[in-house]
Amino acid sequence: MTDNDLAIYLDSCRGRVEAALDRLLPSPHVAPQRLHAAMRYASLGSGKRVRPMLVYAGGQAFGVAPEQLDAAACAVELIHAYSLVHDDLPAMDNDELRRGQPTCHKAYDEATAILAGDALQSQAFQILAQAGELPPRTRLSMIDTLAVASGSHGMAGGQALDLEATGQDIDLPQLENLHIHKTGALIRAAVRLGTLAATDAPEEQVEKLDHYAKCIGLAFQVHDDILDVLGETAVIGKTQGKDAANGKPTYPSLLGLDEAREKADVLVADALASLAGMGDEVAPLRALARYIVERSH
Ligand code: IPE
Ligand code: IPE
Ligand code: MG
Ligand code: MG
Ligand code: MG
Repeated sequence: MTDNDLAIYLDSCRGRVEAALDRLLPSPHVAPQRLHAAMRYASLGSGKRVRPMLVYAGGQAFGVAPEQLDAAACAVELIHAYSLVHDDLPAMDNDELRRGQPTCHKAYDEATAILAGDALQSQAFQILAQAGELPPRTRLSMIDTLAVASGSHGMAGGQALDLEATGQDIDLPQLENLHIHKTGALIRAAVRLGTLAATDAPEEQVEKLDHYAKCIGLAFQVHDDILDVLGETAVIGKTQGKDAANGKPTYPSLLGLDEAREKADVLVADALASLAGMGDEVAPLRALARYIVERSH
């Protein structure tokens, strides 16, 4: 697979999931219009669609057709969109901008944003439950995987740890545990959802992909913390990002920037090592691992 083929493949994944989301989300002309408009606002903007791309790439590793992966790609992206709407609320990170645009509660209002998050979460599970192209057993496993990854033992639990840690001194293992939950769980679930759509994937290979996903899930948040200091998301200054300024422990605040970068690189190398020996069928996963620590936003 050439770099160009890969770029075309990843673009097509992005296009697929965006078209499917547009089709599946309720029309803003149907009541309750304001809620439906807020749901669309929160999920159809300029997201990178990393989690859907991981679903498609995880399935592609075992030859699953993209048509079998659309439901899972949409579901994980909707959970992600809901998590961001709630993450930005005044009671949480109190952010006014997301992807360069007003956050959902700024564009609408707080109550609408809370409800939009709630409804996006429900819609994610509805899409999986109703995915007629998948056997019922597959749908059930996908619902289970996504529920565990987004609940109190996954993303929501990680967000709770994040709030608890705000303004506190925590050590590296604690920070790692927080990141693995708040961000890593959903990224790991994305790859797993892709592999669940495969009917005859060898268990050993599935485990390798799972290890890959664990590593890039953590690397993703390490890099997010780095971008908080250096990237387009930084608003405070060169040495301290918005999250760190708000008393959030981050990798750069605990380790310094250079060591944080090194940590992200080591995790990606570990992820790539678990794909060693596999062929072109995992080229998109390899590319996504690099993208996660090289992206500028
Ligand atoms: C941002 O996620 C929040 C984290 C979990 C770190 P993304 O960087 O994937 O957000 P979008 O969807 O591309 O804007
Ligand atoms: C967000 O982490 C994690 C979830 C939404 C689960 P952050 O709070 O660091 O994400 P950004 O920086 O607001 O995108
Ligand atoms: Mg947060
Ligand atoms: Mg935030
Ligand atoms: Mg952040």
